[in-house]
Amino acid sequence: MKMIPNDIIAAKNSGKSISENDLHAFIGGYVTGSIDDATMTKFLKAIFDHGMSNDEIYTMVDIMIHSGKRMDFGHINDYVCDKHSIGGVGDKTSLVIAPLLASAGLVLPMMAGRSLGHTGGTLDKLETIPGFNADIPINEFQKLVESNGCGIMAQTSEICPADGKIYALRDVTGTVASVPLIVGSIMSKKIAEGIQGLVLDIKVGSGAFMPNLEKATELAEMLKNVGEYFGVTTDLVYTNMDQPLGRYAGMWCEVQESIDCLQGRGPDDTMAVSLKLASKLMIQSGKAKDEVDSNAILNELIKNGSAYKKFEEIVATQGGDLVSANHEPVYTMDIFAERDGIIQSMDTTQIGWGLVDMGCGRKHKDDNLDSTAGLECHRKIGNEIQEGEKLFTCFCNNEDKLKSGVEKIANAVNIGTESLELPLFYN
Ligand code: URA
Repeated sequence: MKMIPNDIIAAKNSGKSISENDLHAFIGGYVTGSIDDATMTKFLKAIFDHGMSNDEIYTMVDIMIHSGKRMDFGHINDYVCDKHSIGGVGDKTSLVIAPLLASAGLVLPMMAGRSLGHTGGTLDKLETIPGFNADIPINEFQKLVESNGCGIMAQTSEICPADGKIYALRDVTGTVASVPLIVGSIMSKKIAEGIQGLVLDIKVGSGAFMPNLEKATELAEMLKNVGEYFGVTTDLVYTNMDQPLGRYAGMWCEVQESIDCLQGRGPDDTMAVSLKLASKLMIQSGKAKDEVDSNAILNELIKNGSAYKKFEEIVATQGGDLVSANHEPVYTMDIFAERDGIIQSMDTTQIGWGLVDMGCGRKHKDDNLDSTAGLECHRKIGNEIQEGEKLFTCFCNNEDKLKSGVEKIANAVNIGTESLELPLFYN
């Protein structure tokens, strides 16, 4: 029987489920061009408004995976896994975890993303390293991962092309923030990596996409359900995103801070989150019996230089030249505290948008990024500060963009009198 798109949209809008055949016809039709953008937008809006059942989500993920190629590591003995974060500000943990775990003998075919909304993208940061290439054909990427234990690639047209096309449409039709659509998008790409295990960093707080723990839990549980349904062991770690992670947020400065972490001098919060996430995969793989054991193994790999050596190896294999990566910004501007007190809160989404203004993210698809752009955080929530002391130093290569970013960031901090300590984890 022929599918009638408007009937399916009307059925979803009246609360009915979409059959497997209709989902196939809709998503397949959009990829091949028989369903146009306007019809697909109505379909996405219907899902946005009315959600999807678990069965619909499993079917959608399966269709998206099969719209492209899938990696296959079935012939190797090592544990193949990945880490994914739901997006944050200053979140450079992928750059720490990937080489660290590869130096421990795990295999990570990491598909990383670009900046999204107010959050930074691992790929954008990595591409501040001159020559670094993440657009690698899947066959080549798989070989590279097998020989190095890790590679970091961009989503190409070979992997989940249905997601590539649908995501681009969601981005311009206000349909990104839908739990089933986010789950479909993230998990189809992760499963297409051919992994056995996954750890998800579920960010909660003022800089996260999910506004509160309840909404974050709904998304996280659905991501886990889909992972387990497709045979991928999936662990969840809920982490605080009420302030930027680490001392730096931005472009090259985050790569530099990741190098510090891999060389044993990273900031405490970034190290704690990285080690916690990494421990889940160490335990899944059987390389560690618990978190304490994992931390001992991973700290030793940092101390003896193996973790950083692996980072250098990954970068060099993908054409990157760390020696000539030097990004001195032309302009810097400090933001000072306007009163004495204790930092109570930060509007970290606003800080993220300030960073976007400075060149760390895109408002339009073709916006150019600035490798030198970023900020240094001199104080964190719970820290005392005196009037006139530095809160942030912001930097980039364009004075107007810097001013615009600084204006947003300067208004994002609330100083009060209450003593407080922020938790780093929620589970
Ligand atoms: N990241 C993705 O890859 N897809 C989404 O829908 C949201 C975040």
